[in-house]
Amino acid sequence: MFDPKTTCIVVVGAQWGDEGKGKLVDVLAERADLVVRYQGGANAGHTVVIGDKQFVLRQIPSGILHPRVTCLIGNGVVLEPENLFSELDSLRERGIDTAGRLYISDRAHLVLPYHKLLDAASEKSQKLGTTGRGIGPAYEDKYGRRGIRVVDLRRLECASAILQDRVNRANQLLALMGSAERAHLETHIRLLERLAPRLLPLAADVGLLIYRALQAQRRVLLEGAQGALLDVDHGTYPYVTSSNTTAGGAAVGSGIGPTKIHGVLGVVKAYTTRVGNGPLPTEAKAPDGERLRELGGEFGAVTGRPRRCGWFDATVVRYATRVNGLTGLAVTKLDVLDSFAEIPVGTSYRLNGEVCEEMPAEVDALGRVEPVYEVQPGWLKPTGDARKLADLPGAARAYLDRLEALSGVPVRYVSVGTRRDQIIEVTP
Ligand code: GDP
Ligand code: IMO
Ligand code: MG
Repeated sequence: MFDPKTTCIVVVGAQWGDEGKGKLVDVLAERADLVVRYQGGANAGHTVVIGDKQFVLRQIPSGILHPRVTCLIGNGVVLEPENLFSELDSLRERGIDTAGRLYISDRAHLVLPYHKLLDAASEKSQKLGTTGRGIGPAYEDKYGRRGIRVVDLRRLECASAILQDRVNRANQLLALMGSAERAHLETHIRLLERLAPRLLPLAADVGLLIYRALQAQRRVLLEGAQGALLDVDHGTYPYVTSSNTTAGGAAVGSGIGPTKIHGVLGVVKAYTTRVGNGPLPTEAKAPDGERLRELGGEFGAVTGRPRRCGWFDATVVRYATRVNGLTGLAVTKLDVLDSFAEIPVGTSYRLNGEVCEEMPAEVDALGRVEPVYEVQPGWLKPTGDARKLADLPGAARAYLDRLEALSGVPVRYVSVGTRRDQIIEVTP
């Protein structure tokens, strides 16, 4: 995707998350200088497989496995510091040196233990199926202008005074929600004291670092988390996450202007999955849904929850193409379909007897739509060794052509297995 005029690319999920963004970012990072996470937090689980080693990255950008690449965590992320440190420690134990090549925005907001208590308590009534990482409450504090940011650790006395107010407030809310849990001020103060010496040396003006890198013609990848249908504005509200997962969020969440972004790669599975609650129109019935789950290893990288599985939904991907301004598509997990003789593809919906080609705003309506399917012939051959389009069986190529036509955006990458080398780059 990179060329002399295309030096800043966003990689986003174009379904409900877990599309294989981590794998694609790792592949593209080979040619990148900077990789930046710009929203979400430890709710993400991005898997990279190199040889027989698997890495699941939560907050650290998926470019970290390339020793030449510098990784940044942008202001739009809600950072869970302890989780970050355990990620760093486990990378070090596995021989990945991150010294001098991981920085965190001084403007990023912190996720603290009271956020997790609030997340758990509100799940009891809201039942969104969150990851329980405190993401929603941390963004609520950010937009309520009550957040605690990385930069606040520079003045611990002030941060402690603010904490007193936040912990009290959290405890009032917990009581209101009928939870017996309480947050403890001392624990929070000790936590910030412990975090500061390790976090502050990593703090930086990330927007400035990216700006300078782009001025110097360096190549920058902006790595999205979650997917378009989990975007707080454009997703299946209220069954969404609390950030803008779509490409517009990349500029805001990394601290650069939108005119600095040259391309947007949307990652989609060759089928569809979702974890957590909310509508999934093309969800497959047993036994196909279970077969997809088994073959695709569809269990959450963070929570281990089984993912709900179904067929490719072109209405979703057309919508994601529009709201992200996608310039290319990466289709992952084609190999998972190798043994299906027939593969349904959802081309549009029917709602109240009428054809519906656009995503309804109302979540109940999306829950009621009936997908219109066309059935594509399967290829019944393994695809995992293909390294160029011509290596794929004709029916697999026809399947990809159909996804491309229905989505309205060119397929630039096809992934045929978990490993780094199992990728096809489609040259236009
Ligand atoms: P992300 O959150 O978008 O980075 O995706 P996850 O890592 O949560 O989930 C994607 C899963 O699919 C991971 O287990 C990957 O190792 C795996 N994966 C990625 N690409 C492929 C592929 O082309 N084929 C197969 N079989 N697995 C893949
Ligand atoms: P990656 O980056 C899939 C889902 C949760 C829940 C909803 C809200 O790996 O693709 P939250 O904890 O964010 O408040 O939960 O969003 N969710 C994800 N689903 N992949 C993810 O991340 C997700 N992050 C959050 O399951 O339905
Ligand atoms: Mg994931």
